[in-house]
Amino acid sequence: MSQIDHYAVFGSPIEHSKSPRIHTLFAEQTQQLMEYSTQLVSAEKFPRAVKDFFSSGGRGLNCTVPLKELAWEYAKLKTERAELAKAVNTLAVQADGRILGDNTDGIGLVTDIQNNHGISLKQKRILILGAGGASRGIILPILEQLPLSMTIANRTVAKAVTLADEFCHKAKINACGYDALKGQSFDLILNATSASLTDELPPLAAGLLAEQGSCYDLAYANKATAFVRWGYEQHASNSLDGLGMLVEQAAEAFYLWRGMRPDTLPVIQILEAERNS
Ligand code: ATR
Repeated sequence: MSQIDHYAVFGSPIEHSKSPRIHTLFAEQTQQLMEYSTQLVSAEKFPRAVKDFFSSGGRGLNCTVPLKELAWEYAKLKTERAELAKAVNTLAVQADGRILGDNTDGIGLVTDIQNNHGISLKQKRILILGAGGASRGIILPILEQLPLSMTIANRTVAKAVTLADEFCHKAKINACGYDALKGQSFDLILNATSASLTDELPPLAAGLLAEQGSCYDLAYANKATAFVRWGYEQHASNSLDGLGMLVEQAAEAFYLWRGMRPDTLPVIQILEAERNS
């Protein structure tokens, strides 16, 4: 008799999560017998819920806001990218029964930028806006693509400096406030602030984006975010939001769980069509 493997995403709020849709499309495409559900789980309930999920045979979990740091604490076995991100978005049962924690957000971003949009990060001047958890999660996968330079700009400069210091054993990262960016230019500007959630924009001067440069907002919405609109105004070659990253981080989790890589482009196209309908 065939056995269905169980997966889920935990978070709060969770009802608008696109993860079940994405993983169901992946499972159909690759003919995997699996089920993926959502579970509303608060930070207080997380330890009990995660224990129950795995002890009842669950094979893998995604964790989203506000649980990524708790999932990081929970996973005793972690990938290097998760260790440095200080956040885990994917938990997977290993062959020996131990649970591995990974963070697939950064590699999802890199895959979307490089493979789906043809923008190489190698030798590029990269500016990351924001110094919170979203920024920390993408730094190592970007550094692995050997950019020319990386700068983190944040409203609270001390947070940018602290974050850059955490990665000083990997590379020199510049850290500053928004004012100090004046006169510089970058090939790729990544918005990892939470400003898009309220349709706000970090205080960006015109001229920061190099000719032929691109903008990428880690957030996504049904209409262009304030940062994506700013990218259009700056005549960016590409001004993109994080829908592709969302699908690619899911594909990386799927690979960790099932050992196979789904074809992401048709899934991105379906999600694009659904949000425009
Ligand atoms: P996340 O886990 O999503 O990264 P976070 O850790 O709360 O969330 O970090 C949010 C980031 O967005 C911070 O860098 C914050 O800047 P401060 O550290 O100065 O608070 C940044 N941010 C939020 N709203 C912003 C806005 N309107 N303009 C610029 N930066 C903003």
